[in-house]
This record gives sequence, structure tokens and C-alpha cells, in this order.
Amino acid sequence: MAEPLRENAVWRRLEWHRAELETETLRDLFAADPARGERMAAEAAGLCLDYSKHLVVDDTLSLLRRLATERGLEERTRALFAGERVNVTEGRAALHVALRMPASRSLVVDGTDVVAEVHEELTRMTALAAGVRTRAVVNIGIGGSDLGPAMVYEALRAYADPELTVRFVSNVDPVDLDHALEGLDPADTLVVVVSKTFTTLETMENAKRAQAWLGDAGADNLVGVAASPERGEALGIPPERMLRMWDWVGGRTSLWSAAGFSLFLSLGEERFRELLAGAHALDEHFRSAPLGANLPALHGLLAVWYRDFWDAQTTAVVPYSTALRLLPAYLQQLWMESNGKRVTGDGEPVEVDTGSVLWGGVGTNAQHATFQLLHQGTALAPVDLIGFAQPVAGDGAQHDLLAANLLAQAEALAFGRIEEELRTAGVAEEVIPHRVLPGNRPSSVLLAQRLDPATLGALVALYEHSVFTQAVIWGIDPFDQWGVELGKELAARIAPELHSDWKHELLHDSSTNALVRRYRRLRDGR
Ligand code: F6P
Repeated sequence: MAEPLRENAVWRRLEWHRAELETETLRDLFAADPARGERMAAEAAGLCLDYSKHLVVDDTLSLLRRLATERGLEERTRALFAGERVNVTEGRAALHVALRMPASRSLVVDGTDVVAEVHEELTRMTALAAGVRTRAVVNIGIGGSDLGPAMVYEALRAYADPELTVRFVSNVDPVDLDHALEGLDPADTLVVVVSKTFTTLETMENAKRAQAWLGDAGADNLVGVAASPERGEALGIPPERMLRMWDWVGGRTSLWSAAGFSLFLSLGEERFRELLAGAHALDEHFRSAPLGANLPALHGLLAVWYRDFWDAQTTAVVPYSTALRLLPAYLQQLWMESNGKRVTGDGEPVEVDTGSVLWGGVGTNAQHATFQLLHQGTALAPVDLIGFAQPVAGDGAQHDLLAANLLAQAEALAFGRIEEELRTAGVAEEVIPHRVLPGNRPSSVLLAQRLDPATLGALVALYEHSVFTQAVIWGIDPFDQWGVELGKELAARIAPELHSDWKHELLHDSSTNALVRRYRRLRDGR
């Protein structure tokens, strides 16, 4: 059994150290070390992470690195990349890194070269894509089978085939599918059903309705993606129109697999492979760079630092890019489904706080909506500000304004505006308390040259490995999601009870029983 975190000497040292930092300010830290901004930055795979505006000093970083070493980050990373069963509660490997390994590599797991299989499937994707003649694609999936492809599609729209309409359907709310099909012709629409299990209620219901919509005109316009081809039988999809994503691919890290087939169609094979190559470059960095210069490790360790030593309950992600507007939603699943855990891999209580609540929005819109709380609220929320030096399209001068806002926010969060400055500026004494921004609000700046497929691949891989780093420190399994099962079971039980002709007694708690009865009355207009 792993050593409880609270008894770890480095953890206890970090608790002391946190108290020592209580009176430090970023203003003082920067004043005392003019090179801090240059020094506390690391680069890899086209991404630069500036972590100088965090509530850390060199000792903090060295303690966090020691913690990572003691908690076995290096060994766990080796195990992840070697295809060991790091998903302990499901007895599976988590091989998203294999999905982006080049064909020249080989990784044998249980006697099978998974990299060879991955490339065979990419070849099948190429062949299947070559036969696609429709001018619309509707991707049906939920969770990882939707969020990843939808986010990447939005992010890389500038690179997508403008002649191909691509829409995403996830919710079992019937309106979702209706909207997606609006104006489309069944004979000219390919429906891609993505579900690792091919049993997910939302996806199966939407898929059946889409299948009925396709009718005879589009009977062949249906492709499935699942852990194994025979799962396609549930919708009568023949094996030759089924693509594979394997059991060892987690839903929330599946966009790199055939789950990204809609992306493959819209971006084309070359761009899709660039996306994979960008993620692979970051993978190589994560597994080989020393901890002090390792972007995902630093990012993950800082997340632990705030969660456990500063009681930060949330983490914000703010991309200064409209194209990345779905990134926070995508990262929410990655971050919260992975690390929203209360017991360790051994089933023991974790005893410290684990995953924070991730939220966010696009800059500058978020500045005009939520940033007030970041600047003057009482909750500490570390923020990731993500930006690019070149616009993918559009006016360069206007893009500079966007970047200026990103840099301004990092500066304002860190250094704020103190009383003396306001007084010198002639602000009336009675409003000074309201106008003080205390600063010391931590942020990372992630800067890259341009939002292209490779950079996006690297950015997403950075977050994947940050999440993994946090999980290793906490000793939890970031690859399962048992917490979502109960709700699914209960919904299946409740669904038939909502009909007025349900003859059996309701055996829920009194609140659920009353709500079911009220729903029936409202549903039937009584
Ligand atoms: O309910 C959670 C979940 O299992 C996610 O982890 C997953 O991404 C999503 O459901 C969809 O699952 P599937 O791809 O099997 O339909």
C-alpha cells in the first residue's frame, strides 16, 4: 500500500513552506529577482509556458519536484508509455500515447504491436474516407466521443474543407439531433456514430433516430466507431463500416483514434497526422525532459500546489482565441472525470483534496463576465491564459489587441493596483478600498506562434499529462469514471416510470416519487 500523502516528509515540508510564503507578494518576488520572468519559463513542442507569475519560489519548485520523485512520477510515466495496466480499477492500459506514435515505432502489449494496429486503422480510415462523397457529416457521440472531435473541429476550422458541413450531436434532448439535421439531405449526409461501448443511451437513441432519418436514400451513409467492430451489430452496421478505437483508449483521450474520424474527413489525412505528430512531440518531451523543464509535470505540480496547499477549489482556462471556445468544455471532462476521485488506486481514502473544478471561457469575453471575481473576489483560482502570436486568419492589428489583453490580464492578476497608486492617481479616499486589486493572483501564460494542428495536438497532450501528473501525486486512478454509472442506472429505471400507464408502485425516496408524479401530471397537461 502506498504511503499516505499526509505522512510524506516532503508533503509536510510543503505545508510549512506554504506558511512561509504567506507574506510574500509577486511584486516583491519580481523586484528581488529581475530575471524571474525569463528564468521561470519552459518550452517544448512549440509551446512556451511562463510560470513566473505563480506563488512559488525556487524552494517551492524543488520541493514539488522532490514530491514528484517520491511519488514515483518517473516510474508511473514509464508504466504509462509501456502499456502497463495503469487503469487499475478496470485492469487496462491507457494507451492514448500509442495513438500518436509514428509507424516506425513498435509497442508490444500482451503480444500485440499496438502501434502497428493503430497505423492499420489509420490506413482503414484513409480508405473509408476516400469513399465518402457526401457533403455533410453528422458526428453522434457524447463525452469523449463528442467533446474532443467537436473541440478540435472548431479549433482548426480554418484548416477544414469548406465544402463539407460538419455537425456534432451529443445530448439525448431531441432538439440536439433536430438542429444538427436541419437543412441536410439524407442522401448527401454521412452519419458517424462514435461510442466506445456502443451502448451509451444518448448516442444509441440519437443514432437510431438518425438512421430512421437516413432511410433508404442514405442506408449506406452510416459509419460506426467502437472498441470492437462487432459492436456495430447494435445498429446493423457491417464490420467494413466500423472503425476501431480499442478498449485501451479512454473516452476522454480518444480524439486521436478513429473517434476523430469526422476530423479526419474535414481536416484531411495530412492535417490529422500533424495533430498526432504535435501530441507525440509533447509526449516525447514529457517522458524525457527533466522535471524542472517539463511542461506537463510543472503544470500538474502547480495544480497540486494550489489545490492542496492554497485550498484552490477551481482552475480557470482562458484561451485568447475564439477558435478554442470549446477547449474549456473539453478540458472539463479530461480534468474532472479523471481526477474527481476520493480513494487511491488501493481503495484507501486519499485524505487530501484531489481534482479542482475546471471552468473557463474565451478571452476577451471572459474578462467582461467572470474576471471581476478573479481580480477582487475572495476565492483563489489559478488561471491558464492561452494565446498565439499570429492569427490563423483575419486582421493582424486586431489580433495584437487580443494578445495585449492576455498579457494585461496576467500582469493585472499578479501585481494588481495598490492603495498608494490609486492615491497618487487622485482617486477619492472613500472609493479606494473598492478600487484596490490586491494582485498575487496566480496565472500561467501558454504562448505559441500559431494555432495549427501540431500546436493544438501538443497543447491537448500537455493537459493530458498534467492531469496524469496530478493523479500520480494523489495516488488515484485517473483513467476510470465509476462515479457516472449510478446516474445512468437510475435514469434507466426512472424512464418507464414517467409514463402515466406505469402500474407499479414508485419505490424511490419521497422527493423523487413526488417529482415523478408531478412530471407525469405536467407531461399530460393535467
Ligand atoms: O459516462 C461517461 C463516459 O463513459 C465517458 O467517459 C465517455 O467519454 C462517454 O461516457 C461516452 O462513452 P461511449 O464512447 O462508450 O459512448
